[in-house]
Amino acid sequence: MEDVTDTVFRQIVMSVGRPSLFYTEFVNVEGLNSRGRERVIHRLKYEKREKPIIAQLWGVEPENFFKAAKLVKEMGFDGVDINMGCSVKNVVKNNAGSGLIREERELVKEIIEATKEGGKGLPVSVKTRLGFDEIDIDGWISFLLDQSLDVLTLNMRTARGEKSLNADWSYMDEIINMRNEKSPSLLIFGNGDIKSFEQAIDMVNKYMVDGVMIGRGAIANPWIFSSNQEIAREEKFDVFKKQLLLFDEIWGEKKDFHALKKFFRAYINGFDGANELRTELMKCSCVEEVLEKLEKEMYI
Ligand SMILES: Cc1cc2nc3c(=O)[nH]c(=O)nc-3n(C[C@H](O)[C@H](O)[C@H](O)COP(=O)(O)O)c2cc1C
Repeated sequence: MEDVTDTVFRQIVMSVGRPSLFYTEFVNVEGLNSRGRERVIHRLKYEKREKPIIAQLWGVEPENFFKAAKLVKEMGFDGVDINMGCSVKNVVKNNAGSGLIREERELVKEIIEATKEGGKGLPVSVKTRLGFDEIDIDGWISFLLDQSLDVLTLNMRTARGEKSLNADWSYMDEIINMRNEKSPSLLIFGNGDIKSFEQAIDMVNKYMVDGVMIGRGAIANPWIFSSNQEIAREEKFDVFKKQLLLFDEIWGEKKDFHALKKFFRAYINGFDGANELRTELMKCSCVEEVLEKLEKEMYI
């Protein structure tokens, strides 16, 4: 997730409950292959202990996917994921992300082939939605199942329209049947609205998917990948401090401190005075300030 799953957050998540697989933030292949490369390449920063880790790419030019996949391979990633699901206006406007659902199938094929060639044997996956305006299993999903991918991750909603609001997993059975017929070795990961560890296990059992991908659930609860959900206030504070310090150490001034604020609720919740403390912390403008306020709170 953009501005969320950087190396700092991934390291924090793995310190409290390890998912089987990590994905980077999406990285624009056009940006990677331009003079503006420095502005995006930080998204591919990772530590060996985060492995297995997949680099996620987005864009429109097959040639740029080829070069980006080559770089991803050289950097030691374990796979390449192509984003065909992002519905943010600026991405769709360029026919990238979920915009590719509306594009000529020939272009999508070329993007997948170029990524496979550049990745030279690396597993290649696609993350997408069930359609653009409407659910399109017979067209879009069926087409993707024919592309000899290693994994297809499905956010169980459309990009626009009525079905874009909530994930609707009721389509999964049909998709799994189609996969079993067309491409039995391809893995299907389901994504959308999973909010807890138990729910993730339930989804795997109920829909027979090969895995689930969790997004916002991890922002709200970095412990979501752990079977232990009884987290004491002290542990929340400790992990929060660890994240702040690691952010400072790895990014320093390179990233905006305010990007951390989306995580405050994950750590400052579930105890008397949590709301007031969070409101206080939201006023901070640097890591040191947050740490100072936290220290005070810990010794009250
Ligand atoms: C802040 C934010 C950033 C995201 N960035 C990405 C991204 O870079 N790549 C991607 O495939 N999906 C991205 N997503 C979408 C999520 O991966 C996921 O598909 C979506 O939120 C639905 O799953 P969830 O209900 O588990 O969050 C992002 C979502 C959020 C909220």
